[in-house]
Amino acid sequence: MSRDTTAHIVWHPTTVTKKERQERTGHKSAILWFTGLSGAGKSTLANAVEYELHQRSLASYVLDGDNIRHGLNRGLGFGPDDRKENIRRIGEVAKLFVDAGVITLTAFISPYREDRELARSLVDEGEFIEVYVKCPLEECERRDVKGLYQKARSGEISKFTGISSPYEEPEVAELVIESNEHSIEESVRTVITYLEKRGIIS
Ligand code: PPS
Repeated sequence: MSRDTTAHIVWHPTTVTKKERQERTGHKSAILWFTGLSGAGKSTLANAVEYELHQRSLASYVLDGDNIRHGLNRGLGFGPDDRKENIRRIGEVAKLFVDAGVITLTAFISPYREDRELARSLVDEGEFIEVYVKCPLEECERRDVKGLYQKARSGEISKFTGISSPYEEPEVAELVIESNEHSIEESVRTVITYLEKRGIIS
């Protein structure tokens, strides 16, 4: 039986506001939500973009699937319910980071459209930038950086995205980066240019 555990909890507004935090950092905050197959290059690109933001002395942070699953989301598996909970928590954490004035980069497969849309709905209009790191399954499997595709093919790993578990491509991503067509440098430039055009950074 589920019960509303927030029934007697009242939201307490903070004294310092998001706007004031953004005025202090000198830029807006937002979520760059990198989604795509395992091995598509989400973490690599998110880290390369963060490096560029950091070089510019902007406040940024990367939340990465593999890392978060070691701590906050330890114990969650790869069935649909656990992936949903994984993304729900990350959406909430990313929202807090945005409130803190940080440009937040999340690198999760986040295979379900509905879950990504839930994360989008948590923040204000324009604060959620979906970046689809697009790479054909065959190429991800050819790279097989962590040897996981081989294990998935042999049945050693079950429910593996793209093999035995679905990946729902974004329909309206703000950015689509074809990672097998462009260098990291080009892709970083694409993301940075987008942030500049949107007035998130200058
Ligand atoms: S999800 O779908 O968003 O909840 O996944 P995420 O938290 O991003 O974790 C993906 C990383 O976990 C490793 N891994 C798997 N991925 C997909 N399916 C299965 N069954 C699986 N088991 C382990 C894998 O290293 C993923 O990392 P990336 O960086 O995406 O390759």
